[in-house]
Amino acid sequence: MISAVIFDLDGVIVSTDEYHFQAWKELAKELGIDFSREDNSRQRGVSRMESLEVLLEKTEQTFSNDEKLAMAEKKNSIYRDLLDRLSPDQILPGALNFAEESRKLGLKIAVGSSSRNTPFILKKIGLSDYFDAVADGNDIQRSKPDPQVFLIAAERLAVRPAECLVVEDADAGVEAAKAGGMFALALGAAKGHPGADLRADSLERLSIEKLLRELG
Ligand code: BG6
Ligand code: MG
Repeated sequence: MISAVIFDLDGVIVSTDEYHFQAWKELAKELGIDFSREDNSRQRGVSRMESLEVLLEKTEQTFSNDEKLAMAEKKNSIYRDLLDRLSPDQILPGALNFAEESRKLGLKIAVGSSSRNTPFILKKIGLSDYFDAVADGNDIQRSKPDPQVFLIAAERLAVRPAECLVVEDADAGVEAAKAGGMFALALGAAKGHPGADLRADSLERLSIEKLLRELG
């Protein structure tokens, strides 16, 4: 029986994906790298440093660890400037309804995100105190597809992994949920992932009650 819903943040609750893309694209331009949306989609769900490695696959140049750290820092500062524009208007359609409906059914709700900017983003969209628990990139040593962030979220909610439904838009996130022994609702880009238990284009007009019936 499902007793908790764990939401990914970027691309599920809020549309920060475009800002990630713009910030990586700007860094790529400085390095003379042609960076596409397809490359960007492989960065979904994975940590900042792993995302940088995806970008650097596109160049023959080699860099020291310190240089890589400086690049990631630079991307993050471009990204933070873009995040400054965030407001509750950028909460994705259906996300709050889905969370509210979950609560009304007696489910606990949490965020499980690889992003170290999670507290800042939640503040900008007015949801700092909204969830029963938050686990994010600041809590973990291993990013999705490792299940660590979701397991920490479940622990903070005091529920067993098998009682959790994870909502994800990234293949890495669906894999993390399954590796953690949880159910996975795959949205958008992750919809084709064979490991998903449930699939939808987005949370818009989606009913948790109906999905739970589907899970049986
Ligand atoms: C995830 C994004 O939510 O957070 C990834 O899907 C991103 O693309 C990761 O790399 C880390 O984000 P941040 O904010 O810590 O750089
Ligand atoms: Mg995501």
